[in-house]
Amino acid sequence: MNFVAALNDVAAKNLQVLEEQIRQAISDDEFIHEACEPLFKGGKRLRPMLFLLCANAKSDFPQEKSMPLATTLELIHTASLVHDDIIDTSKKRRGVETTNSKYGAQIAVLVGDYLFAKAFQLVAENNYGEEVSTVLSKLVKNLCVGEIMQDRSLYEVPTLSEYYTRINLKTAIFLSTCCRLGAIVSKMERREVEKLTAYGTNLGLAFQIIDDLLDFFGDEKITGKPRGGDLKSGVITLPVIRALEVSDESQILRQIVTSGKDVDAAIKIIQATDAVDYCRTRAEAHIESARVNLPPTLQISVARALEQVADFIVDRTR
Ligand code: IPE
Ligand code: IPE
Ligand code: MG
Ligand code: MG
Repeated sequence: MNFVAALNDVAAKNLQVLEEQIRQAISDDEFIHEACEPLFKGGKRLRPMLFLLCANAKSDFPQEKSMPLATTLELIHTASLVHDDIIDTSKKRRGVETTNSKYGAQIAVLVGDYLFAKAFQLVAENNYGEEVSTVLSKLVKNLCVGEIMQDRSLYEVPTLSEYYTRINLKTAIFLSTCCRLGAIVSKMERREVEKLTAYGTNLGLAFQIIDDLLDFFGDEKITGKPRGGDLKSGVITLPVIRALEVSDESQILRQIVTSGKDVDAAIKIIQATDAVDYCRTRAEAHIESARVNLPPTLQISVARALEQVADFIVDRTR
């Protein structure tokens, strides 16, 4: 299913404005524009879409107020991807060469920093108030802690609980923040803010579990990023954790994942177990929790769109 097809008119009509604001944000400087434009040609825009859907979930929220924050979320996300690709020494992102591969890690650090700075400039210029700034700062802090945690335990097999802590910090908090901010700016009741936050958290956990599956079994042409990258760079994820538990060949698998060599053999061992079904079942359970947390007070069209986003996440191939 096409991701955008899952969205209602509210979000779709904002998409053009979002693209225009992104273009503006990267147009101050000639080099930044050259480096960033190809990157922004791809990407699902999931985070700004979630924010916009939630901001319009009870009543129509003015576009001129919501768009800068939507753009901020996409800029923060893309900045984190630019930095993530340096950390993972990844060569491809959104179907194009990564910034680090094209210009080197030094420049890529600065391009990421630039995007973070532009993101916070938009927030500063649009008077969203203290709570929004605090929530955004905590988001970036948590992203960093999640990435640091991952980087400090490369080639180590995490426990299930360690894995969940990491994916919560690096991914689920981002999706929940988008929903939370939508609820905050449109002045929903506290209970609704918390419920939409829980919807986003569960969505995010499912999203990263599926991303971790796609890293092994996805189609590079569709995901736009290389396959097997996690294992090669020492990131041990849920399919491996499960396969290590149930496989007859778990000793060999452990040997491979703690060295990062012979990824193809690891994939074969994982495939011979129930790991893929296990991961999908877990992701589906989070999607179910996400659904259950949708407040009953939302406009029906937006509630449907948020349900469709949830379905998209398990079925996605990109
Ligand atoms: C990639 O996020 C990073 C993860 C949390 C797995 P997306 O899959 O949303 O990336 P784009 O924006 O579509 O490129
Ligand atoms: C999430 O992790 C990325 C960020 C927190 C930025 P991944 O390392 O799995 O993301 P991809 O697979 O590179 O997109
Ligand atoms: Mg990565
Ligand atoms: Mg990944």
